[in-house]
Amino acid sequence: MKAWLSQLNTDLTYNPSSAEELARFELSHALPNISFIMKTDPSLGEGYRILREADGSYLISGGSTGILYGAYSLIRHALCGKALPENLSSCPRYAMRMINCWDNMDGTVERGYSGLSLFFDGGHFHYDPFRMRELGRLMASVGLNVLCINNVNVHFPAQLLLEDYLYEAAALADLFRPFGVHLMFSIDYSQPMRHGISTADPLDSSVQNWWKETAKRVYEAIPDLAGFLVKADSEGRPGPFTYGRNHAEGANMLADAVRPYGGKIVWRCFVYNCRQDWRDKTTDRPKAAWEHYAFLDGQFAENVILQIKHGPFDFQVREPLSPLLLGMRKTNLAMELQLAQEYTGHQIDLYTMIPMWRELFEELPADNIMSIAAVSNLGRDDNYTGHPFAAVNFFTYGLLAWDPDTDAYSAVSEWTRLTYAFPAEEEKKLINLLLSSRRIYEKYTAPLGIGWMVTPHDHYGPNPSGYEYDMWGTYHKASRDAVGIDRTSSGTGYLDQYPDCIRKKYEDPDTCPDLYLLFYHRLPYTFCMKDGRTLIQRIYDDHFEGYYEAISMVETIHDLPFPNPDREIIRERAERQLHNAKEWCDIINTFFRRLSGIEDAQGRIIYD
Ligand code: GCU
Repeated sequence: MKAWLSQLNTDLTYNPSSAEELARFELSHALPNISFIMKTDPSLGEGYRILREADGSYLISGGSTGILYGAYSLIRHALCGKALPENLSSCPRYAMRMINCWDNMDGTVERGYSGLSLFFDGGHFHYDPFRMRELGRLMASVGLNVLCINNVNVHFPAQLLLEDYLYEAAALADLFRPFGVHLMFSIDYSQPMRHGISTADPLDSSVQNWWKETAKRVYEAIPDLAGFLVKADSEGRPGPFTYGRNHAEGANMLADAVRPYGGKIVWRCFVYNCRQDWRDKTTDRPKAAWEHYAFLDGQFAENVILQIKHGPFDFQVREPLSPLLLGMRKTNLAMELQLAQEYTGHQIDLYTMIPMWRELFEELPADNIMSIAAVSNLGRDDNYTGHPFAAVNFFTYGLLAWDPDTDAYSAVSEWTRLTYAFPAEEEKKLINLLLSSRRIYEKYTAPLGIGWMVTPHDHYGPNPSGYEYDMWGTYHKASRDAVGIDRTSSGTGYLDQYPDCIRKKYEDPDTCPDLYLLFYHRLPYTFCMKDGRTLIQRIYDDHFEGYYEAISMVETIHDLPFPNPDREIIRERAERQLHNAKEWCDIINTFFRRLSGIEDAQGRIIYD
């Protein structure tokens, strides 16, 4: 068994027939000296209740997957060396706790940093059932229940999932069922047009019928499919706009097709003008999602869920909470996170995400959303996540999806204990290192909320002007005197999309938290920060600090007793992280010094 369940030391070499049977298997191997009674109580749904009886045995009640989650909860307690709970009830806050894989059927993974696809190769299904069971265990052990197996950019031949490969997909769904994991498919909005229908207009009856028939066939094969995930009118994907229809009309048409089977349409809101002219000052990309969706609040069918990226841009190192997550109170919403470290270090550099997620929930009332999704960071690499530490993001995401109040320190401690079982002092060092990794990465790449100074397309390493004159709407507009975009009412007006309490927090540059300063404001380099330093000095200082902190992080890594093969992978990637951190520090500082002509007050080396 791999990743955080490695201490289980038991391979699952057969396909369990039910969640309850799997729970028995896991408990009998992990806790052989304790007896368990399992009681199915459908009223608990996916939740569970654990009760220690007078004779020392444990009663676990729940719906069928609830029992499994209860079993894993006990096992995690035991493997972490914690006392087993005597009386514990728990149920997930969110109905769908999703992993979105961006796997293509040719075996590649869009934004994948852990090897090829776990599910596909050469245009076909291609998977190792043993690894599928491991993945099922990893997901169930942290309560994740939906797995979308193919990329939201549905390239040919992924569309065949609905046709030729449906029965193979059904076999995969059978494999995951005992783990409480429901499959989901990404679909191509224009799919009917590949079947002799001349349009994909959602109001056209031939289109509606095609989807109804398709849904019927799909649900006959996979009765518990969670539903379809849709990227429409986004980055060149087809969608209802082509026919002058809005996204409620588009999503509701699909919702009608899957409704008889209890299916959901998860509709992504990543819609913006990706052909923007950089000269155009009237368009501000972060405003796009709100402009496309807010006015449709209340018009989506009850089985549509709008999936909204956590920030208004695209998974930058730091972004404010998307205003849309606060605005649409009459619509089912899911927040989308990204475990794949696209902009956050490619699973080479360390970036533990839970501190960021905790910050999001400080502004997002947990009940504003009813589901949660994360872009997968998994692949065919032996350890699933490329860098072994990247697994902390998958693990803690599961805990947070179950309970958004999950505390960052305790979640990371649990992963550390389960994964490495280090002595206390080393364990503490590793936890602190993991928890500080995000801030360090942020400092040497994009402190003060600036974002997008990254190498275009690949998104690893610095290129301060790489996106500046491009069509993606991601500009920092650094000039000789100033940097950033004014997004207050006197600027693009983005900030006006928020409720007053949030708007007020950010609108004045003198009180706006430093970490978001250049996201919201355009400021001269001589601007005096709250700590008395100038903006340009903070830019220099943060980049240097980030680089120096990365050096000490790597020193700590070298002191820790990782077993092999982790040790070698971790050390090798740490060297690459240091190289990357130095590139970021030097290139960004040189960029700003050349522009501003202002020297570093501390006289450190900034290259000409
Ligand atoms: C980003 C990412 C793309 C992805 C897109 C999405 O833009 O770079 O690879 O397709 O997000 O979320 O749909």
